[in-house]
Amino acid sequence: MKQNTPTPHNAAAYGEIAPTVIMAGDPLRVKFIAENYLENPKLYNEVRGMLGYTGFYKGKRVSVQGHGMGIPSIGIYSYELFNFYDVERIIRVGTCGALDKDTKLGSVILAQAACSDSNYGGTLGIDRHFSPCADFQLLRKAAETAERMGIDYRAGNVMSSDAFYASATETDWARLGVLGVEMEAYGLYINAAMAGKKALTILSVSDNVVTGEELSPEQRQTGLRNMIELALEL
Ligand code: HPA
Repeated sequence: MKQNTPTPHNAAAYGEIAPTVIMAGDPLRVKFIAENYLENPKLYNEVRGMLGYTGFYKGKRVSVQGHGMGIPSIGIYSYELFNFYDVERIIRVGTCGALDKDTKLGSVILAQAACSDSNYGGTLGIDRHFSPCADFQLLRKAAETAERMGIDYRAGNVMSSDAFYASATETDWARLGVLGVEMEAYGLYINAAMAGKKALTILSVSDNVVTGEELSPEQRQTGLRNMIELALEL
């Protein structure tokens, strides 16, 4: 929808953003991906420091953009990408806390579906129990690619929490087989469903909510690299 662009949050002109966008919460991680993995990256957005770049990966045009923290924030950026910039697929790369003591730090979780304590769906007029899920083709390709790359991964449900400091209730979700806790997949998947577009969330396990273990900054970087390469290969 050309007439809605640029937006109050995104300075890109219509056409400057590729049909496939990789999103990360931290704009500096976006800058890292653009500078280390893309050929000829062009910065299209700096509004609120939420950097966005378009470049090429193995000859294919791709964009990378920040989405901030939490469902309201990814809600805004992904809505505009899907509905105003005609983006077809968004792959979020992020971190999560594992909810099972045996899930290894640095391993990858593919968010097949997302539960939440958020009322984002209700706010958008979904008044029943919609189950937001990943696009199956993207999920299948991510699983196949992870196997080919030798990346240790699991696929399953995640929990998108509205509160980072909510440890009292998080472990309840583990009893339902929920693998990890993060803060955005639910909002992204709802926006994709409402726009008729595709989305996937790929998470690197940065901490374990049960054991309290955390990755060191160096280990975090390696985990991130696996996940970034996996996302770009899609
Ligand atoms: N909670 C919510 N979001 C997160 C966490 C967590 O423990 N770890 C990484 N992102």
